[in-house]
Amino acid sequence: MKKRPFVAGNWKMNMTVPMTRAWFEEWLRLSPGPEDAEMVVCPPYTSLWEAARRSTGTGIWLGAQNLYWEEAGAFTGEVSGPMLADAGCRYVIIGHSERRQYFGETEATVQKRIAAAIRAGLRPIVCVGETLPQREAGQTLEVIQAQLEGGLSGFTGETIGGFIFAYEPVWAIGTGRTATPEQAQEVHQAVRGRLAQKIGKPAAGCVIILYGGSVKPSNAYDLFRKPDIDGFLVGGASLEAAPFAEIVKESIRAYYKEVN
Ligand code: 13P
Repeated sequence: MKKRPFVAGNWKMNMTVPMTRAWFEEWLRLSPGPEDAEMVVCPPYTSLWEAARRSTGTGIWLGAQNLYWEEAGAFTGEVSGPMLADAGCRYVIIGHSERRQYFGETEATVQKRIAAAIRAGLRPIVCVGETLPQREAGQTLEVIQAQLEGGLSGFTGETIGGFIFAYEPVWAIGTGRTATPEQAQEVHQAVRGRLAQKIGKPAAGCVIILYGGSVKPSNAYDLFRKPDIDGFLVGGASLEAAPFAEIVKESIRAYYKEVN
């Protein structure tokens, strides 16, 4: 059954405090009102506090882009789960392809971060995705399964039921080249199929699986119509409030088309 849309913006290493303030001012001006969607933005650490203040009453929840697995101590430069919860986060992105590519993220570190997020009461948004050479070599589903195993092993069904997954093909991130709804659906279905083996079909049906990679107002509707696409993890188009609000609206429009 189609779930209400879940739309998260990943601001990556963008948005200073004044820019964050302006984003929320613009959001209020657009006054999208109480939307029939779960809306999240994931600012950089330095803007979390301002976003927490500004997001009150806007219907937008906060997420972080990463976390460290220890709770406190001599880990210069790191930020822990309890600190993120304290700053107002409800979600945290884990294993984004940019972290895998540039910062040595592995299945083992993804797993430690997921465990730390759960201990801190944060819902992990676990990212998976293949590169272009992997897709061209016909290895997409194999790569996704391997990343998924890394994320899932060691967790019970009940815990996994609370995870959010994001399929982000690396070749579609920031390139303007979106996966077709069919390409995305194929992978989403495979992810849900693997989850069903692990936690049972009804529980797997409730897990939120997002698509990410050049999502914009013009392609959100067709992507959201696909049965296993529950929402989006949006990069570039979330840096301004207007296109982000449009993506939310397009998702809601597709949702009502499906459920009515
Ligand atoms: P773009 O929407 O800019 O392609 O980024 C996607 C992404 O990486 C979200 O986490």
